[in-house]
Amino acid sequence: MKRVDTVTEQPTLPPLDVASLPGDLPGALKYAPLGETELQPVASLRGTSEPWAKRGESPEESLQAITQLRPFIHVARLQGQIVGYVTVERDGPVAGAAYMRNIVVKPELRHRGVGMALLDHALGVARDMYRKTLALRVDPANAPAVAFYRKAGFTTVATVVSKKSGKLRLLMSREL
Ligand SMILES: CC(C)(COP(=O)(O)OP(=O)(O)OC[C@H]1O[C@@H](n2cnc3c(N)ncnc32)[C@H](O)[C@@H]1OP(=O)(O)O)[C@@H](O)C(=O)NCCC(=O)NCCS
Repeated sequence: MKRVDTVTEQPTLPPLDVASLPGDLPGALKYAPLGETELQPVASLRGTSEPWAKRGESPEESLQAITQLRPFIHVARLQGQIVGYVTVERDGPVAGAAYMRNIVVKPELRHRGVGMALLDHALGVARDMYRKTLALRVDPANAPAVAFYRKAGFTTVATVVSKKSGKLRLLMSREL
């Protein structure tokens, strides 16, 4: 496993001047893989968002998770700044389906279509992997995420128990 330096203070993503942003946020997004120097700000975005904030994930744990997920991370930028990320892996808990482990939008930009645009990007990445289905796991208590996934056409295919926490998770999927 790659060594991760101890983090005492996490650099957060700089605040965006929301008033100066274009009206069509989804259309203005630019996508790219995650660069080596951007691990910490993305880890901070994860660690300060649900469901990880409520679970008490530490900055070190967030950084370790993002370091491990780095090959699968695609970030969305607006005016050069990261405003969200999504992960897409070729394999996951549903045989033959690509797997989306994380999708996160910067809190001040939520409810403006950025999440749906990131998800569309993830669907394209999964198609490029010659997959026909995208699967994900979600905590049923994470109501905004469950509503978001339902709106995006995901349906629950099973209820599973998380090996890590022992808690119930919904296994959802949709065709590409
Ligand atoms: C889930 C998340 C990615 C959605 O991003 P977003 O940019 O706010 O989503 P969008 O603006 O594209 O919303 C699309 C639709 O999803 C649904 N939705 C999004 N947020 C919602 C909320 N808080 N409550 C209910 N429905 C919601 C709505 O149907 C919305 O459509 P509408 O705007 O026409 O009502 C964002 O809330 C987030 O980053 N949450 C924290 C991280 C997380 O929980 N990720 C999922 C688990 S990994």
